[in-house]
Amino acid sequence: MQLQPPIINIFEKAARKGGKVLLRDFGEIENLQIHSKNIGDFVTNADIKTQKILLDTLKYYYPNATYITEEESKIEGDKEIIVIDPIDGTTNFIHGIPLIGIVIGRIFEGEITDGVIFNPILNEFYWASKGKGAWCNNKRLRVSKRNDIINCLIGTGIPHANQIYKNYLTEIDTISKNCSGLRRMGAASIDLSFVASGRLDAYWERNLNIWDVCSGVLLVKEAGGKVTVPNGNEWTIESKDILASNSIIHDKISTKLNII
Ligand code: IPD
Ligand code: CA
Ligand code: CA
Repeated sequence: MQLQPPIINIFEKAARKGGKVLLRDFGEIENLQIHSKNIGDFVTNADIKTQKILLDTLKYYYPNATYITEEESKIEGDKEIIVIDPIDGTTNFIHGIPLIGIVIGRIFEGEITDGVIFNPILNEFYWASKGKGAWCNNKRLRVSKRNDIINCLIGTGIPHANQIYKNYLTEIDTISKNCSGLRRMGAASIDLSFVASGRLDAYWERNLNIWDVCSGVLLVKEAGGKVTVPNGNEWTIESKDILASNSIIHDKISTKLNII
């Protein structure tokens, strides 16, 4: 078993503190206060409370870092960037669907170096650090070995009500005809952790933010998978669109998405 690096211990401490709040609120979702930021884009008092707990805990250990969080404007600091999504999968949370993740990641000089995803409902704690592998509840993660797309289960994200991607229906049509099934988990971090653990063979989505994918990208890479933008070009921390896979089927999926 790989010893958790100190930074992961700190991220875990923050995530577990935040997770307690989420677990309590998940048990009483009828009392949630829900606000709509945009059509299909919600924030609850649970997001705000959790974000505050995460920030308070992390700032104690990293007082000079730059913080990029979903629910607050950027906190300027030094070159070390900490990215936070207090609830990835807020719509799932509101509906009592237990697929959510608290995401905390670290970026240094354009590279994701460490990240955690914690699902307090299922008690799944994922972490990855560059060169140290990807882990869930002390078990090493490996991407799947499937090489024939027709046997593959592929995740995707469906655009929110007010986001229309011209080619999305064609993409769904093309990919679904060629694989054994499509899944829409409702939390990008969970999709990526499922690619890392081999539950999904690939996943693509467009128009995401760095807090959705920060830790998941590192998990997939450290589990032996591949991450690019859907057309196969390099994925960077500025990218909005993503294709993650077990690596073996990557080019085949990318080609299918590209011919559209
Ligand atoms: C959302 C989830 C969802 C994805 C959306 C994200 P949120 O994050 O990751 O799966 O399709 O684009 O915004 O709003 O639940 O933190
Ligand atoms: Ca998110
Ligand atoms: Ca969120």
